[in-house]
Amino acid sequence: MRTYPTNAAIAATLMFVSNASLAQTTITRGPYLQLSTPDSITIRWRTDSPTDSRVWYRTPDGSTDTSHTEPALTTEHIVTLTDLAPDTPYIYAVGSSAGIIVGDDEDHRFTTAPEPGSTRPVRVWVAGDSGTGQQSAIDVRDSFLANTTDRAADLWLMLGDNAYVIGSDYDHQIKLFDIYPSILRNTVLYPSIGNHDAFSSDSPTQTGPYFDIFTLPDQAQAGGIPSGTEAYYSFDFAHVHFVCLDTSETDHTPGSPMLQWLESDLASTAQDWVIAFFHHPPYSDGHDSDMADDLIAVREQIAPVLEAGGVDLVLNGHSHSYERSFLLNGHYGLSETLTPEMVLDPGDGREDGDGAYIKPNPGIVPNSGTVYAVAGNAGQLTGLKLEHPVMTASRFELGSMILDISANRLDARSINDQGAINDHFTIIKTSPCAIDLNNDGDTDFFDLAQFLQTQPDWNNDTSFDFFDINAYLTEFVEGCP
Ligand SMILES: [Fe+2]
Repeated sequence: MRTYPTNAAIAATLMFVSNASLAQTTITRGPYLQLSTPDSITIRWRTDSPTDSRVWYRTPDGSTDTSHTEPALTTEHIVTLTDLAPDTPYIYAVGSSAGIIVGDDEDHRFTTAPEPGSTRPVRVWVAGDSGTGQQSAIDVRDSFLANTTDRAADLWLMLGDNAYVIGSDYDHQIKLFDIYPSILRNTVLYPSIGNHDAFSSDSPTQTGPYFDIFTLPDQAQAGGIPSGTEAYYSFDFAHVHFVCLDTSETDHTPGSPMLQWLESDLASTAQDWVIAFFHHPPYSDGHDSDMADDLIAVREQIAPVLEAGGVDLVLNGHSHSYERSFLLNGHYGLSETLTPEMVLDPGDGREDGDGAYIKPNPGIVPNSGTVYAVAGNAGQLTGLKLEHPVMTASRFELGSMILDISANRLDARSINDQGAINDHFTIIKTSPCAIDLNNDGDTDFFDLAQFLQTQPDWNNDTSFDFFDINAYLTEFVEGCP
């Protein structure tokens, strides 16, 4: 007589198979966070054997406790969670329908992006040319972490050359995923492509490891104008608009699709701040920007568009050093052609030094001054001289940058590999009713005193004189109660 297994036996067998396959499945990459919006985020990881993909997520207060499953069997797991609450922390775990592999603890968390325009403080980690996998990169990483114990970064911007030597999948594994696992699982990463990354990837066809590994906002999923490519893109986070360009693989001659998109994108944003990041710097001595054709092209072709679009801060790598400029506008030739009119503020931009850089109005004002920072020093140091005339701070030290943007001020710090701050600067955007120069919450006599002490070129005529005082007092008296 033939016998059949009972339902209980089948269930037991399935559970055994399930647990067995779960036990055999190992995460070999990630999890890592990508593309956050106010109501969504993408979580990715890699396993050594194919499974379906499940993310469990919950708010600490228990108001949300659910999961999302993608049924396809894969080793490259990409799960986008939707219908999330804005600017809200979540705990998450990843695995498959067989169960959790990792997470469901404080070490696996994400926070959704704030609504565009929100003025809540934003913290950004900026690391350039980090992809060496060497102790130097680890020291820079740990110095960044030691300087953010008070508050973790919301975003991580990579300035290119993220995975030496050729940007292969293996290079990304050992230079990115094996070096920064804790940051990757808690911080949304937005990379730009460097020339070394481009050895293995191709921007025109969006193929290769760079495009396989990262999920980036090619359709303006997080704000901005759709670029149609992951090679360059933009996104909003709170009241900051971020623009990522590709100077390694994508045509950036005048009229090229990327520059046309850039003009449109900058013209469309209504955010308070605009930060651009990409690999090749327009001004540098680390690679000589008077000699290197690729840097000359960036300066001649891209910098004018960025400045006309009111970009406040430009972040670049490629040179393995730290170089940070004055507040500039209109310098597109060789370094010897720099004139005082192109330096809108010749100070160091420090409130404890020459005074913060003052930009005259809130929001985006064309050609109102841009600070350029080269920070390709997160993985190694190379170069000889650091004397470029647009730079007010040049450091031959390993390090990275931390940006804090809150309301009308942007504070930037350069942190070296020993954890010390080796440069800092502040940009303040004023409005007629918020000339709080000393940042004490009031507009009063003490602000006037600071104004006279720091002597900003309020009317942007390249000198500090009576007309600046008059312009300042006009706004001070007429604009502010
Ligand atoms: Fe490079």
